[in-house]
Amino acid sequence: MNKTVLLTGGGRGLGRATADRLAARGHRVLLTARTRAAAEDAAAAIRRQNPGARLEPRWVDLSSLDEVRSFAAAEAARGEPIDVLFHIAGILQTSKKRRLTVDGYEETLAVNVLAPFLLTALLMPALERSASARVVTVSSRLHLPGSRGAPVDFDFADPQLEHGYHPDRAYKNSKLAVLWFTYELQRRLAGRAITANAVCPGFVPSTAAASTRGLERLFMAYVLPHMSFATSVDAATDSLVFMAVDPALDGVGGKFFGECHEIESSPQSHDAAQARRFWSMAERLTGLA
Ligand SMILES: NC(=O)c1ccc[n+]([C@@H]2O[C@H](COP(=O)([O-])OP(=O)(O)OC[C@H]3O[C@@H](n4cnc5c(N)ncnc54)[C@H](OP(=O)(O)O)[C@@H]3O)[C@@H](O)[C@H]2O)c1
Repeated sequence: MNKTVLLTGGGRGLGRATADRLAARGHRVLLTARTRAAAEDAAAAIRRQNPGARLEPRWVDLSSLDEVRSFAAAEAARGEPIDVLFHIAGILQTSKKRRLTVDGYEETLAVNVLAPFLLTALLMPALERSASARVVTVSSRLHLPGSRGAPVDFDFADPQLEHGYHPDRAYKNSKLAVLWFTYELQRRLAGRAITANAVCPGFVPSTAAASTRGLERLFMAYVLPHMSFATSVDAATDSLVFMAVDPALDGVGGKFFGECHEIESSPQSHDAAQARRFWSMAERLTGLA
């Protein structure tokens, strides 16, 4: 059955590839990018290959809670069901200088998890209009302890990393928080026809390269994609499409996936008390409380 999928990050990278693939399968895609130009360009490029694609460009800067609120209000006012809300947009900073959003929040936390948290809450009426809806959020295996780079270390006394900021830590903390959000959302949705899952697309250097500069960018774009541990855009897109529409996931929620099967997330991600604590914090930070 064809679905209506609202996905973020649709302007480039894995979000755009997923929009392309879903549209090719006949699904209706609300292709959401940061700007109107990016959304319209991506939709036009996909339509050039597939003139029948049912794509509707949408735009919202996820680093602004006001923009997320207005976007969600406009979407909710359409009164249409959303079958799949797919949070694909995400950032991994390279600079060691901590960046703040217009709301004064650390940007990685804001874009990677606070925006999905708020958008999900505000689009709940549209998800409830679907006979069976999914909320899927992209996390990363990098949240696992021992992964390369500065370690994950989510300190509830300093969630914005005012002390000890490192871009890797900000990224890993945000992807751990995505899992807390997903698991807690699934607990809160119990008994309803909406599921929440998270996914890691694998290490996809050719799209991740966009977040890097100079020599590192060349290395990511041209060398790493040939390594055995790298995932191709095609394979990553397969697993994202699986998350969005595969019937095998009907009624399945509260899980973490990679390569179209369930994978382990860290023990900390399963700590329900921390997940509830993060939920309350996110409610307060997004003004939902
Ligand atoms: N590639 C990997 O190896 C890898 C591994 C694990 C997880 N992931 C996750 O997978 C997702 C997609 O990654 P990717 O590789 O496709 O990355 P990408 O090519 O860098 O794409 C990131 C997307 O997020 C959007 N975005 C960033 N900030 C935004 C904002 N403030 N408002 C709206 N959109 C914003 C970007 O839009 P702009 O063009 O406007 O910047 C872009 O469309 C991310 O969540 C990433 O963390 C990737």
